[in-house]
Amino acid sequence: MDPAARPYRSVLYIPGSRERAMEKARGLAVDAIIFDLEDAVAIEEKANARKLLAETLAAGGFGTRAQIVRLNGMETAWGPEDLAAIMEVGPQAVLLPKVETAGQVEAVAAQLDAHPACGETEIWAMMETPVGILNALTIAATPRMTGFVMGTNDLAKDLGCRYRPDRLPLQTALQTCLLAARACGLVCIDGVYNAFKDEDGLRAECEQGRDLGMDGKTLIHPAQLAIANEVFAPTEDEIDLARRQITAFEEAEAKGLGVAVVDGKIVENLHIVTAKATLAKAAAMNALD
Ligand code: COA
Ligand code: MG
Repeated sequence: MDPAARPYRSVLYIPGSRERAMEKARGLAVDAIIFDLEDAVAIEEKANARKLLAETLAAGGFGTRAQIVRLNGMETAWGPEDLAAIMEVGPQAVLLPKVETAGQVEAVAAQLDAHPACGETEIWAMMETPVGILNALTIAATPRMTGFVMGTNDLAKDLGCRYRPDRLPLQTALQTCLLAARACGLVCIDGVYNAFKDEDGLRAECEQGRDLGMDGKTLIHPAQLAIANEVFAPTEDEIDLARRQITAFEEAEAKGLGVAVVDGKIVENLHIVTAKATLAKAAAMNALD
C-alpha cells in the first residue's frame, strides 16, 4: 500500500517480550503495530525480547497491519544489538526513541543503506524530549523519515507539566511536531492515553488529536482499538459532504465558474483537495476493514 494512503487510525504498542499478545495481534482490528523493545520491556528481558520479536516478524501473519519496531536508543547498551537483529528480518519500519537530532536518524539510515534486506525500511521517530521537539523540522526532513510518534508521557516528565484532560501544556509540542510532519510529508501519531479502562476519556483525547490533525493514536490495550478506529475515520456526513462538494464544483466549473456553494458555504478548489483526500482516506479504510 502507498504509505501516504495507508490509514494509521489505531497504532498499538505490544511489548516484544509478550508472545501471547503478539500472537493475538494477528487477529486484531488495528492499522499498525509498534513492537516494543524499549520501555515496555524490562532490562532482564531485553535479550529474550529481541530474539522472540525477530522470530515473530520472520514468521509473519500480520496481514496488512503496518509493522513498526521500536528499538532501544543507539546510545544504550541494547540499541545497536536490537538494530542488528531486526535488520536481518528486513523490517517495514524502525522507530527510534528520544530522537533529538537529525544526525541520530542519519546514523541509523547509514546502517540501513548498507544492509541488503533494508532497502525499503522506513525510519520513524519518537518525539518526546524538549530538544527533540525544538529540532522537529530538521529531524522530519531527514531521508527515510516517514513518521512521528508523540511520546507524551516522557515529554510531560521533562516539561514538568501537570496532566490535564485538555492537554493544554502539551499543545505547543503537539502542534510543532504536526507542522514539521506536514511540512515534510510525514505521518504524525498522537501519544497514548494511560487510563486504558476510561473510554470517555480516551474518546475525548482521540477527538482532540483528530481535530488538531493527527493521523491516529498510539494505544496500549486492545480495548482502546474500536474508539480510535471510529474517531479517526471520516464520518458518513463528512463523506456525503465531500461527494456533494465535488459534484457541485464540477457543475460550477462546467458553467465557467471557479466557486460553488454547498450548504450555504463557498467551495473553492482547495476544498476539493480536502474532499478528495477524505474520500481516498475512507476508501483506504474500507479496503482494510
Ligand atoms: N497488545 C496486544 N494484546 C494485548 C495487549 C497489547 N498491548 N495488552 C493486552 N493484550 C491482551 C492480553 O494478552 C490478553 O489476551 P488473552 O486474554 O487472550 O491472553 C487480553 O489482551 C487482555 O489483557 P488484560 O488482562 O486486560 O491486560 P494485561 O493485564 O495483560 O496487560 C498492560 C495490561 C497495560 C500491561 C498491557 O496492555 C501492555 O503491556 N500494554 C502495552 C504497554 C506498552 O507497550 N507500553 C509502551 C508504550 S507506552
Ligand atoms: Mg518514551
